[in-house]
Amino acid sequence: MRRKLAAGNWKMNGDSGLLDELGTLATSQTAQAPQIVICPPHTLLTLASFRAQGSPVEIGGQDCHAETKGAYTGDIAASMIANTGATHVIVGHSERRDGHNESNEMVRAKVQAAWAAGLNAILCIGESEAERAGDATLEIIAAQLQASLPDDATAANTVVAYEPIWAIGTGKVPTLDQIVETHDMLRAELIDRLGVEGAQIRLLYGGSVKPANAAEIFQAQNVDGALVGGASLKATDFQPIIDALAES
Ligand code: 13P
Repeated sequence: MRRKLAAGNWKMNGDSGLLDELGTLATSQTAQAPQIVICPPHTLLTLASFRAQGSPVEIGGQDCHAETKGAYTGDIAASMIANTGATHVIVGHSERRDGHNESNEMVRAKVQAAWAAGLNAILCIGESEAERAGDATLEIIAAQLQASLPDDATAANTVVAYEPIWAIGTGKVPTLDQIVETHDMLRAELIDRLGVEGAQIRLLYGGSVKPANAAEIFQAQNVDGALVGGASLKATDFQPIIDALAES
């Protein structure tokens, strides 16, 4: 059985005041809750880890550099993220791939850097609107997975998040059939490549997940949870998504 995972990506939102939302989540979970990971901006990682201490909520970074240290102004190393008490880091988000020209090879190196620092990597892949319109979705995301996921990935160190770029922050969501199709294909690719580990690696869906659509999305058998942006900023939005996942 794969453990369900609700991950929140705060992106470039929030100051220390937003940690009250994290505090609410930290104190509201029941024994049935899935795994919960909140990824605030790097400036809040230490405070967030402190607020989540002793609760079921875990903390993650939103990106890391592939190198362990050096002259990389503005970047942060995976070990620095781990040092704050965080347990996860998102790598290869489309906002990094597109906005910072991150290639599959760079993303793959970041996954390895995350592992070396003892972090779980949440590896993101996803097609653009034009690729979806051109019927290239399966081919594109399979190629991204192949090139950015290292061969020695395991269920204990990696989560894969499928986020169609056109669904991020737009309110547009693929149909349930489309979600089933992509996640089933990704599961088959993972098993083909990694065997038993591939069957156990969690697959998350991301892109405009809201309280209103979460239960439908979680019907897909290879969707093991969600990577949530906007709706993770308020506990009143994120909690119903967590609950829908627990009930799925
Ligand atoms: P939204 O949930 O705001 O569409 O963002 C999804 C996302 O990019 C999470 O990483």
